[in-house]
Parts: sequence; C-alpha cells; structure tokens
Amino acid sequence: MSSLKGRSVVLGVTGSIASYKAADIASKLNQAGALVDVILTPAAQEFVSSLTFRSLTHRPVVTDMLDADSELAVEHVALAERADVVLIAPATANTIAKLAYGFVDDAITATVLATTAPVVIAPAMDAKMYQSAVTNENIKRLEDRGYLFVGPGVGNLASGLTGPGRLVDTADILNAISDSVSSTKDLEGLRIVVSAGGTEEAIDPVRHITNRSSGKQGYGIAQAARDRGAEVTLISAPTALAPVDGVNMVNVTSARTMLDAVQDACEGADALVMAAAVADWEPAEFAQQKMKKVKGQDRLVLELKKTPDILFEVRNEALIKVGFAAESEDLIANATDKLQNKNLDFIVANDITASDAGFNVDTNRVVILDKSGGREDLPLLLKEKVGDHILDRIKLIKAEANK
Ligand code: CTP
Repeated sequence: MSSLKGRSVVLGVTGSIASYKAADIASKLNQAGALVDVILTPAAQEFVSSLTFRSLTHRPVVTDMLDADSELAVEHVALAERADVVLIAPATANTIAKLAYGFVDDAITATVLATTAPVVIAPAMDAKMYQSAVTNENIKRLEDRGYLFVGPGVGNLASGLTGPGRLVDTADILNAISDSVSSTKDLEGLRIVVSAGGTEEAIDPVRHITNRSSGKQGYGIAQAARDRGAEVTLISAPTALAPVDGVNMVNVTSARTMLDAVQDACEGADALVMAAAVADWEPAEFAQQKMKKVKGQDRLVLELKKTPDILFEVRNEALIKVGFAAESEDLIANATDKLQNKNLDFIVANDITASDAGFNVDTNRVVILDKSGGREDLPLLLKEKVGDHILDRIKLIKAEANK
C-alpha cells in the first residue's frame, strides 16, 4: 500500500448501518501513511461520532458545510483541491442519487462536485434498493462519468435479507483507491533535479552552521515527480527524512558540495528545482581541530565568507530554473528580486510567519511568480500537491519550448 503514503484521501461517510465500518477504513488509511480528511453527513453522525474519526486520523473532521470552524467553510473547495482521491464509504442510495444529478446539500456532495481527483464509491444499502432500476441507472450514470464503484458485496444485510448491498471489505476498498491514485506518467522522459534540506557549513570537526529547513518540500516534489514518471535526482542536505525510493539520491552537506552535485546532475537535465535552504555564509576558515574555550574570553568573533549562489551559477541554456523564496516580510517584492537576479523561469514564494506553511509542517501556502509577470496564489496544500503545481508548470514550459 506504499502508493497511499503521503496521499491526501478525503473519506466521505454517509448514514448507513455500515457507517461504523468506515472507522476501520480511516484507521487503515492512516496506517498506510495517507493524510485522511473525514467528512460525515448529518445522517452519518446518527450512527458514528466525529470523535472516533478525529482520534483515528488526528485531524479535524468536517461535519457541516456551514460550520464556521471547518476548513470547508473558509475555503470550501480546499479539500476538493487537496484530495488525491475522494472515497465515499459507505455510500447510500440517496447519496448516489444526489451525485448522479449534481445535487449539493452537504459537504460530501460539495467536495465531489468541486474535485478533479478520482472518486471511488463503496455502496451499502438494502438489496432491494440496490437492485432497483433507479439506483442501477444512477450508478451507470456515475460510472459513465468515470466514477469507480467497489462492491457492494453479497451477504446478510441489516434488513434480515441476504443479497447484494454489503459494504465490501476494507482491503478491497484500499486496493481500489490505491489503484486510482497511481497517477498518469505524464513526465516520462523528463530529467528533473531537485534540491532539499538546509546545508551545513562546518566550523570545526564537531560544529556547523545550519538552518531550520526540514527538507519536506523538496522531498515532496521529488516524490511527486517520480510518481509522474520523471527521472529524478534528489540532492539532499542532511534531513531527518527517509530517502525517497526510485530517485537518484545524492547526499551533500555544505553549499559548496551542493553546488558541485547540482552542476553534475544538471548536465542534460530539463529542470532544476532549488527547494534547499542554502546557507549564504560559511566560516572563512575551517578549524582543523575542535575549537577550545580560552580562559577569560567571553566573546568570539567568527568570520564568515559568502557561499556560491547555486541557482545563479548553474547555466545550461535549456534548463528550466525554479527557485524558492521563504520570506518573513515583503514577500512579493523580495521574491520578484530573486526571480530576476537569479534568472529564473518562476519562483515559489511563501511567508514563513504562517504556522501552517513553511518550515517543518506538511502543508504550504505559496504564491508562484513567473518571469512574464504572472502571479498565482495557491490555497493551503500538502507539500506534494505544491510539487504537482510546480511540475505542471515545468511540463507546460517544456511543451512550449518543444513547439
Ligand atoms: N539559493 C541558491 N544558492 C544560495 C542561496 C540560495 O541556489 N547560495 C537558492 C535557494 O535554493 C532558493 C533561492 O535561491 O531557491 C532563494 O533562496 P533564499 O535563501 O531565499 O535567497 P537568497 O538569495 O539567499 O537571499 P536572502 O537570503 O538575502 O533572502
């Protein structure tokens, strides 16, 4: 189930006697490493409590489209935008009918209508309702539109009857959604170099200067590019993250070693995405021995010298260059300067003072500025999803260049 790791799954739970089984689904998705956002319809809340799902997913649960505290209320398409897959389990005949005709009267129907992610539906209902002509027509309508149905299973039903209508097993549901998120290989043939993490500039054999970058954004981009079929080199300064499978991992420490690795990797590459937080300064002299305290000395002056600007230095006519600008003030003005000075195709700017964006969190809220003066403000997204937006742009620039 590794394909669900880091993926955003929206789990819509509707009101059915099988609603309690959704707790197992949420738990298994969480164990598979997915980020699970649960939406409960009012009817589902008659059967199960939001506390159950909040405890299992460690995330807020959406219970009401108009709930002022809900993310959907503020940015009602945010979940739809963030989702890699929307799963409705169990799905009642009523919800299936609403979806078939585009009705929106709860947060699940709103999310499905607004998403471009695959939608997987696991029906659960009485056999007679499932076999009715109208439910069959509704399912057919949705299947024709590309919605994926899993189940129902056949067996004993709450009504006392035996027949089709049971919610299928969690394992079958997980397989179905894992198939649906293995995305298209639209970047096949592209060579993409990504840098990540904060560089370390050694002072002496035991000390260094570094910064608070976690590497999550760069790793997220590398993962997204790999999933879309690109050949990826991930040049990583030290991080606490596990290496990304299926990419060429190059571990570096300092700005200088990163420059060498980036220059090597960019030979013949199509794009460079510099998500690393590169130190601007390194100690002017590296002390070969551990620096000792000197009796009576209560201040120390450490002389620093400039590191190379990697983005600026790397030149390859055909290379698409993408920079990041993490700023604490004057976001747009500072990012625009970097875009121009470093001769970039576009720059991804974020305000590091926001608690849900920037260092050490899984989400980011960025503004993309391009060299023709365009500006795109993206909503709060998982870092992998930010990666997808960056990759979409790279793909577009490449397609234009090949025209
Ligand atoms: N960068 C780089 N080499 C450096 C410093 C930064 O390639 N020596 C890249 C970063 O990876 C990022 C972009 O340049 O993509 C902007 O980095 P940032 O640290 O925000 O900008 P600086 O140019 O260092 O400017 P300042 O620190 O003054 O904000």
